[in-house]
Amino acid sequence: MPKPFSQACENNRDPICQILERVFADKSAILEIGSGTGQHAAWFAKKMPHLLWQTSDRIQNHPAIKEWLAEAALQNLVAPITLDVSQFDWPQDEYDGVFSANTAHIMSWPEAQQMVCGVASVLADGGMFGLYGPMQYSGVIKAESNRAFNARLKAQNPQQGIREFNDLNALAASQGMVLREDNPMPANNRLLVWQKSNNTSAC
Ligand SMILES: C[S@@+](CC[C@H](N)C(=O)[O-])C[C@H]1O[C@@H](n2cnc3c(N)ncnc32)[C@H](O)[C@@H]1O
Repeated sequence: MPKPFSQACENNRDPICQILERVFADKSAILEIGSGTGQHAAWFAKKMPHLLWQTSDRIQNHPAIKEWLAEAALQNLVAPITLDVSQFDWPQDEYDGVFSANTAHIMSWPEAQQMVCGVASVLADGGMFGLYGPMQYSGVIKAESNRAFNARLKAQNPQQGIREFNDLNALAASQGMVLREDNPMPANNRLLVWQKSNNTSAC
């Protein structure tokens, strides 16, 4: 059986990678949240060999991630750990970078909040958090394609939906993370980058 595949990952991996190469240039250990198929991890670990790339997801996605990792056969790509952001099993290790793509709108808002708080708890001072996906700004979803996507998400699960930038940013700020970049990306996505600036305790 062919391994799980995401065309979106193939399409967005290079634009994302161009930004991560700069943001993670002086970093060494990255935690990815919601690795999904594992495609992003395999690509980013190959393109950024100075990084140790720790994959993670809920347990049901581990077989796919492991298949992509086995094929990539990279020394700096680490087998997935089980991480459901709503559970109290966040890693004890410290990371100087965290990355997550297309997760905040799939999670419920309480889960997305737990993700931001959890990220603050595992990030070293000066560490960077990159969050990729569609966003809304002051209640407005600009692109028609994203408005339709948001409607589909909510129809399948009212808990899901495109998240509000201001809410995410206020929460990140409350956890000691300062917004450094808000990058426009292809297909009406954004890549937000926060930096952990002090020892503010996580929620
Ligand atoms: C749309 S997929 C994105 C996968 C991959 N990052 C990508 O860009 O293709 C959403 C991911 O979020 C993960 N996810 C959803 N809820 C989660 C939670 N509570 N904790 C951790 N991961 C979660 C799913 O398991 C899935 O891997």
